[in-house]
Amino acid sequence: MIKILIIGSKGMLGTELVEVFSTSDYKVYKADLPEIDITDSASIQGKLGEIKPDIVINAAAFTDVDGCEEQIELCHKVNGQALEYLVKECNKVGSTLVHYSTDYVFDGEKEEGYKEADQTNPQSQYGKSKELGEKNLQKYGDKYYLIRLSWLFGKHGNNFVETMLRLAREKDRLEVVNDQFGKPTYAKDLAIRTKELLESQKAFGIYHITNEGVTSWYDFTREIFKLAGIKTPVTPVTTDKFPRPAKRPHYSGLINTKLPLSRPWQEALGEYLDEI
Ligand SMILES: NC(=O)c1ccc[n+]([C@@H]2O[C@H](COP(=O)([O-])OP(=O)(O)OC[C@H]3O[C@@H](n4cnc5c(N)ncnc54)[C@H](OP(=O)(O)O)[C@@H]3O)[C@@H](O)[C@H]2O)c1
Repeated sequence: MIKILIIGSKGMLGTELVEVFSTSDYKVYKADLPEIDITDSASIQGKLGEIKPDIVINAAAFTDVDGCEEQIELCHKVNGQALEYLVKECNKVGSTLVHYSTDYVFDGEKEEGYKEADQTNPQSQYGKSKELGEKNLQKYGDKYYLIRLSWLFGKHGNNFVETMLRLAREKDRLEVVNDQFGKPTYAKDLAIRTKELLESQKAFGIYHITNEGVTSWYDFTREIFKLAGIKTPVTPVTTDKFPRPAKRPHYSGLINTKLPLSRPWQEALGEYLDEI
């Protein structure tokens, strides 16, 4: 049996990863705060030394994008510095490491989107901290998959879809930003694609995994409401109408040039809405 340690196992993606890898081929070990703290090298050393996993999947992160602008030190520790500890420990034990990053490592100024090898240029503290994580992984790691994703939604965490469904219950009309574009990613599909990637034994390196199709937050909302049968009127507005602490990329469509494409986001969204 393949021993796999999933860190961040209580999070939106981590929960799906635990479900997807719970088959007879894998012995799954779950870890999250407080039993492991990835900002503490001794904590990582203890857990990896005890389990000696064949594979470590790191789905732990500081994911509050605006919160990162205030808690800069903590966000850089969790999303950036921790990767040095994790990679070095994986090297010692011989584990393959899977780590996740974000479209927010790009500045969003390239209208055609971003390929795996494109230059990063983050515009927010969250993006900068995730870029530091990527750099540590590339600097110290040898057996790793770095998977970038965007606009995650799933059953086990706060996400945009849930927020819009709640706002539709609370308000008579909504205004939603129509000048930020990205690719929604269903956590369950991403977990399945992660397992396929590991089992394909493709070359280590950077991969982009999202659902297919670029949309704006406004069109994403309209599709959510259409599929959920919600009639609340939605008006498109520009980003400057909703000033936020962290700057978001204008266009961050992640282009996948290395793997078979995932299903369209609309189809994944339909399944998600049926399940909740
Ligand atoms: N959410 C998105 O839209 C999005 C978009 C692009 C990329 N990503 C990336 O996708 C990955 C998964 O994101 P997600 O949304 O599933 O995350 P999430 O739901 O926020 O879950 C992250 C988990 O990590 C835990 N954690 C935080 N600090 C930790 C530490 N120091 N040690 C150990 N565990 C810690 C959290 O615990 P607490 O809850 O107790 O803090 C939580 O259980 C992350 O790498 C994220 O950067 C996410």
